[in-house]
Amino acid sequence: MDGRDLLRSVKMVGSVQGMRSVRSAWRHRRADARELVPRGAERARVPGLLVSAEPEPGGGVVRFARSELRIRVAVGGAVFWSWDGAGPLPSYALPGAAPEPDTRARLEPDTNGGWQVVAERLTVVVSRHGAVELRTPGGVVLRRELPPRWWEPVAGGAARWVQRSEVPADARFFGLGGRAGGPRLREGTYRLWNTDPGGRFGPGDDPLYLTMPVQLVVSDAGTHLAFHDNSWPGAVTLREGEEGAGSGHDRPGACEVRMEGGPLRCWVVVGTPARVLRGWTALTGAPALPPSWALGPQHARWGFGSEQEVRRVVAGYRDRELPLSVLHLDIDHYDAHQVFTVDRERFPDLPGLAKELGEAGVRLVSIVDPAVPASVGNAVFDSGAAVGARGAFVRDAQGRPVLGEVWPGACVYPDFTDPLVREWWGSLYEERLAQGFSGVWHDMNEPVSFSAFGDPTLPRSARHSLEGVGGDHREAHNVYGLTMARAGYEGLLRLRPDARPFLFSRSGWAGMQRYGGTWSGDVATGWPGLRASLALVLGLGLCGVPYSGPDVGGFDGSPSPELYLRWFQLGAYMPLFRTHAAIDAGRREPWEFGPEVLGHAREALRERERLLPYFVTLAHLARLTGAPYVRPLWWGASGDRALRDCEDAFLLGDALLVAPVLEEGAVRRPVRLPPGRWYDTETGRAYEGPGQVMVDAPLSRIPVLARAGAVIPVRGADGAPELEVWAPRPGRTGGGLVVRDAGDGWGRAEPERYTSRLVAGRVVVERDGEKGAVECPVRVRGLAGPAQP
Ligand code: GLC
Repeated sequence: MDGRDLLRSVKMVGSVQGMRSVRSAWRHRRADARELVPRGAERARVPGLLVSAEPEPGGGVVRFARSELRIRVAVGGAVFWSWDGAGPLPSYALPGAAPEPDTRARLEPDTNGGWQVVAERLTVVVSRHGAVELRTPGGVVLRRELPPRWWEPVAGGAARWVQRSEVPADARFFGLGGRAGGPRLREGTYRLWNTDPGGRFGPGDDPLYLTMPVQLVVSDAGTHLAFHDNSWPGAVTLREGEEGAGSGHDRPGACEVRMEGGPLRCWVVVGTPARVLRGWTALTGAPALPPSWALGPQHARWGFGSEQEVRRVVAGYRDRELPLSVLHLDIDHYDAHQVFTVDRERFPDLPGLAKELGEAGVRLVSIVDPAVPASVGNAVFDSGAAVGARGAFVRDAQGRPVLGEVWPGACVYPDFTDPLVREWWGSLYEERLAQGFSGVWHDMNEPVSFSAFGDPTLPRSARHSLEGVGGDHREAHNVYGLTMARAGYEGLLRLRPDARPFLFSRSGWAGMQRYGGTWSGDVATGWPGLRASLALVLGLGLCGVPYSGPDVGGFDGSPSPELYLRWFQLGAYMPLFRTHAAIDAGRREPWEFGPEVLGHAREALRERERLLPYFVTLAHLARLTGAPYVRPLWWGASGDRALRDCEDAFLLGDALLVAPVLEEGAVRRPVRLPPGRWYDTETGRAYEGPGQVMVDAPLSRIPVLARAGAVIPVRGADGAPELEVWAPRPGRTGGGLVVRDAGDGWGRAEPERYTSRLVAGRVVVERDGEKGAVECPVRVRGLAGPAQP
């Protein structure tokens, strides 16, 4: 027990839940002590010297004295390599079949006694000792993998391994899932083990709920994404390089991936950031398209308490003319915190409430926790016990259900790595739909078991189906949230095939985007938490999960009016725009912070409503191309080092640059601009990038700049669609894509492409391929006023 554990257990003892979590922690510790074979003596192994090579479609196998390396270039350009014979499948990250090999890529001897595979965008060079270099067609090294090392327990069992790599000295690391200290990942060790930090977290807390072994590396030589397809517990240690270090030589950046077991296999995608994300989502699946109502403003709270309170809150929005699209019900609407139940005293008629709110344009979303009360008579427990031959719940090595502690008390955990269990679980969402809910919010799915000490999750020795292959919690833990999301998404789709499922989940893994989005989790209220919120959304987007957002206002305590407002203003530009807080936290409704904040929050809400067609477009583009809505400033200019290091602003799609206020008291802030002309959308003032400018950021707004030439679909004053067009620079054209859809359903939505030009001082907008016809009103902005130097 370390100091933190001790503190946790002292805090917990005294409450009933505390006592139970002490017992549960001991139980889990005993189970692991009994079932997990100690590693004992180990034998270290490295590949040894190259022996032979054999071509295969898309690459080939290179044999070494003590291992073999497979390299395969896939159609679309992604490169797979693995050691010890591992193939791309089975994989929780890949949705179905592995992509076909690109037969144009061939394994051939190189001039140094090694071998190479030459593909269109990448050359993979294998040395005689098993180092693997990824080079651009121009010969620049993007990544050098040193020969791996394994440690095999002499008594048998999973081999752990380490893979060290080098990247260019100027490279920056991003990704690894949701990291509060990001988006740029600095020197340090980042664990791969989805973890509930226990109540609240800030930038220094790591790991969090959603980790994944996906790193995006950006350097002058190019951008690449490396994915180590392995769900076992592990850690990635990063060190940024240094140019001109020691006697003028560069010190390369370094990355070390350590895993406690599982295959050593890796996918690499190279190109511009846009190309990389396109390749990554081609490999792991297109992001789910949310219904358009999920792109509107949302409000949640743990502890609404009753139907009356829900009505009061919704009326509060309506009476103050604050748009609201979704209201979330947390665990307090359950009967004794039991999933798929309703507290009928406090919520006597949920379907009636849902209907009433629906008429006012507000949908209900339900929290869904995976843990099921371990009590005969609980309908979910009973039906789960009857699934398949062994029941639906995770068991220990003796075949007994593993018990954990969550909100309802002693619980069991569905094993979502079993297809039968996923099907059963998905069918339970019928009850949620019948209660009138339109979407689901998955929580506590790391999964959590309250623990006075040790890991607040299931014992590592717990057994899982893992699609029938069998394995323990070490392998299943990180994909628990992902497979629960799959169960929920597929269930909703079966139950309501015509509606796009709306699902977001606290935990997840690579490929999560296929089923829905995520949110920050319990981000601590405070200015550092605000910064962490942005880091999470940016970092997750670069891992292929485009839909997410923070608990606006922070999860715990009470933000100052200023902090609340600044969070709200940032949230208004995040895909998931939702206020939420803990049961014992202060209120988060916009009118709780005085008339001034209310006025400015109303503006932020209205602006979000006005931009809704743009958000719909971004949702479609994310699905079609993998590009996240919220992108780092270097998205289109990854060679610009100053942009690469800028972490306090972001691009919303191609058209807008949002510069939130992340510092207390600030009413002006520096804004770093990518190349091109940018207009302050409030004042119309033009700035020329690249460079840095000071922009006003009064309490009433955060700076938002529009790219010259941008064509942005918005909602006009009468609610009808309109195009907002920002004057292109003289001699330049601009443009934009617009995707319209019916708001829900699966109707085909084709991107419309618009071009903007300046002709004799006037802005002309044309729709490509439609003989120029633009069917909706066009509002031109940015024509007045000279450009500022
Ligand atoms: C977890 C969630 C939080 C939720 C609470 C109660 O802490 O992260 O959003 O309100 O559980 O369900």
